[in-house]
Formats: sequence, structure tokens, C-alpha cells
Amino acid sequence: MKKETLRTIKARKGKEKLVMLTAYDALFAKLFAPFVDMLLVGDSLNMSFAGRSDTLSATMDQMLYHTKAVCAGAPKSFVIFDMPYGSYTDQITALQNAIRVYQESDADAIKLEGGKEKAHIVQHLVQNGVAVMGHIGLLPQHVRGEGGYKVVSDKEKLLDDAKALEEAGAFALILEGVKATLAKDITNSVSIPVIGIGAGADVDGQVLVWSDMLGLFEEFKPKFVKRYCNGASLVKEAVQRYANEVKSAQFPDKDHSY
Ligand code: KIV
Repeated sequence: MKKETLRTIKARKGKEKLVMLTAYDALFAKLFAPFVDMLLVGDSLNMSFAGRSDTLSATMDQMLYHTKAVCAGAPKSFVIFDMPYGSYTDQITALQNAIRVYQESDADAIKLEGGKEKAHIVQHLVQNGVAVMGHIGLLPQHVRGEGGYKVVSDKEKLLDDAKALEEAGAFALILEGVKATLAKDITNSVSIPVIGIGAGADVDGQVLVWSDMLGLFEEFKPKFVKRYCNGASLVKEAVQRYANEVKSAQFPDKDHSY
């Protein structure tokens, strides 16, 4: 497997779709790596793995712990570190934290949420040698400020945000929670790849949260999530069988004993 680079990712604009998936640990990163172009250590892990109700309490230490594990499990994958809430409020804070990411992990790039209002921060990071992926549309880190997760339909703002991030030097963008027709217009308005999540098919690639697409996260299912397997049922059935076999002394049998 050949590792993707900024050049090969950018060259996929309008061509073969980019495949991106979140990963939070070495075990699963290793399983996903052969099939995806990029692994995102998303702060969504704060919900699915840390059990919190949103992503806002994720910390740099927590994200670095998971990123190191993902890089160890998938050393040939292009790994993106999701900057947690509060870690990029201004240029200096953002650069200090991005430097930490590069010094303490093997992540290839960072991702941060926000459009035009964050463009000066993206530009500062890029000018200091940091590879930055933008994230516009529905911003999960704004859930408390916005009072919920809402599909975004302000075309002018989305176009401005996408352009501003492209001009600031972002190598790609995530576009989240936008109607498919509008997402197509945003994708066509910039020369960098646009990776959709809840943004329809006319974008340059897709990203999903792995525990959602494997059907492991049962709390809620946004409309855009497709479950490629019924993970929660598979796990529960297996653990139930194990428990039954232990109680009935069927496990361990001769084949599983020394
Ligand atoms: O944290 C995350 O997993 C993300 C994806 C939803 C894009 O930002």
C-alpha cells in the first residue's frame, strides 16, 4: 500500500473519489488502512468512545493519545488530527498546538472547524509548515452555541468559507450537513478536494465515523449514516454466547485448553 501525500490527495479533485474514515485506535486503524485513503482521528471519539454527549470536552492530550495509537497501527496511512474545541482560538494557540501534534505524533495533517473567520489561523499554520484540512457547513463544535445540529443552507456563506480556506492554503475541506445540490455548487467552486459527510454524492470524497458505519453506535443515527454492518448486534450476540458458555461450562473445551 502506497501512502497518500498532499500532492496525491489534491490531484484526486474531480477524479477518483477519496475515501476517508475515522479511526481511534491501532487495532481498528490497521483493519481500515488497506481500504481508505485517509484516516481521521476525529474528536467524535469523545462521544462514541468517551461516552460524552458532544465533542466539546475533548482535549489535546486525549486526541494525541488516540492519534499515536492510530499512527502506530497504520504507519502507511495518511492520518489527520482533529483539533479539539478551544485548541485553535487564535494564531498563537493554534500553532503551539499544531506543533505539539507534529512533535508528539506522526500525524500528517490537522483539521479544524470554521470558515472565513478561521482563514487567518489556517494561513498562519500553513505558512509555518502545517498541512491543514478545513471543515465547513455543520460544525459539531458549535452545537451548544447553535442550540443543536442543523443542516446548513446559506449558499453565500458556504461559498465564502470554502474560497477563504482555499486561499488560506487548506489542502482539502470537509463539508458537513449540506443539501446535495448545494454541496455540488460548493465543490465546483474550489480547486481543492471537498470531502462530504451528509453532503450527498457530488463531492470529491466521503468521510464517515467508523462506529456509525459499522452499526456500533446506537444512541442515534443521522439520516446520512449508512450502516454497513450491524456491529452492535454482532457484538452483543457474541458476548451473550460467551457468557452462556462460561456459565454452562461449555467454554473452555478441550480445543481451547492446554
Ligand atoms: O470528529 C469527527 O469524526 C469529524 C467527522 C464528523 C468529519 O469531524
